[in-house]
Amino acid sequence: MQLAVVGAGSMGAQIAQQAALHGVDVKLQDQDVEQLRKAQSSNRGHLMRRVDRGKLALADAEAALARVQTTRAVEDAVERADLVVEAVFEDLAVKRVVFASLDRFAPPQSVLASNSSTMGISQIATATSRPDRCINMHFFYPVLVMDLVEIVRGPQTSDQTVGIAVSAARAMGRTPVIINKEIDGFIVNRILHAATQEAYRLLDAGVASFEDIDTAVEKGLNWPMGPFRLGDFSGLDVTYNARMHMYKSTGDERYKPSEQLRAKVEAGKLGRKTGEGWYRYES
Ligand SMILES: NC(=O)c1ccc[n+]([C@@H]2O[C@H](COP(=O)([O-])OP(=O)(O)OC[C@H]3O[C@@H](n4cnc5c(N)ncnc54)[C@H](O)[C@@H]3O)[C@@H](O)[C@H]2O)c1
Repeated sequence: MQLAVVGAGSMGAQIAQQAALHGVDVKLQDQDVEQLRKAQSSNRGHLMRRVDRGKLALADAEAALARVQTTRAVEDAVERADLVVEAVFEDLAVKRVVFASLDRFAPPQSVLASNSSTMGISQIATATSRPDRCINMHFFYPVLVMDLVEIVRGPQTSDQTVGIAVSAARAMGRTPVIINKEIDGFIVNRILHAATQEAYRLLDAGVASFEDIDTAVEKGLNWPMGPFRLGDFSGLDVTYNARMHMYKSTGDERYKPSEQLRAKVEAGKLGRKTGEGWYRYES
């Protein structure tokens, strides 16, 4: 399989590297050369830490790094691709422009996948002449660690395209699940939102402190992180915006962000990245 990954940010860089670790040849494209440089250096850092811990042979790490070729030219990235995974900014207009150019330069039989967390492929695929060959492949951050890929078919996605996406996820050493209908939040974020909203309801109702809710979830449900610690890790602005998106798109009060969450975001206390969210962090 020849893979192209378009967008070399937090997700694209690691999607490319994960595939290369499993022997897939990858072209990683970004419009910003600095992002390509950062992607290469951060991937080298991740792989060399595995080498230091004795989990990966140095020769295998070097081979996997060499398998990711970087380019700024989209034509060069996709001209021989069997599968293209798009991981550019979460902006519909940007994604539609990118998909139109992928459609122009990628071979007609190749599959075009979006890693979007919120946009069903039907919104993007109409920018191409091959909506049957477009699909969502939703990887999880950090891709080098998180095993799951949610594969979401749009109304026009063909069975063959679903099959190609499933095989590609497996070839990259990841576990695919198939979602047969476009639905906001797919599976994981819907379940995460439902559980996290309940945690916020308990907090807002004064039932328990956020620390005790985290402890209860970590010790009683075996989650590696309780909902508040996880919110700090992902960024409370990300959590807040995801809730607002669900609330606005469904009109369902269940998704309305908690007042205490809104207050944190307005105060700029966004979690680890700002040094304080629910918890305080040393720099
Ligand atoms: N960060 C996460 O936890 C996460 C998890 C799952 C899915 N996603 C999805 O993955 C996608 C990327 O997210 P990210 O966090 O990696 O973003 P990011 O901001 O880290 O990276 C986006 C990259 O896209 C590049 N880019 C923008 N426009 C481009 C274009 N026209 N051509 C080529 N490159 C272009 C940027 O230069 C940047 O390097 C989004 O759709 C997001 O919803 C993110």
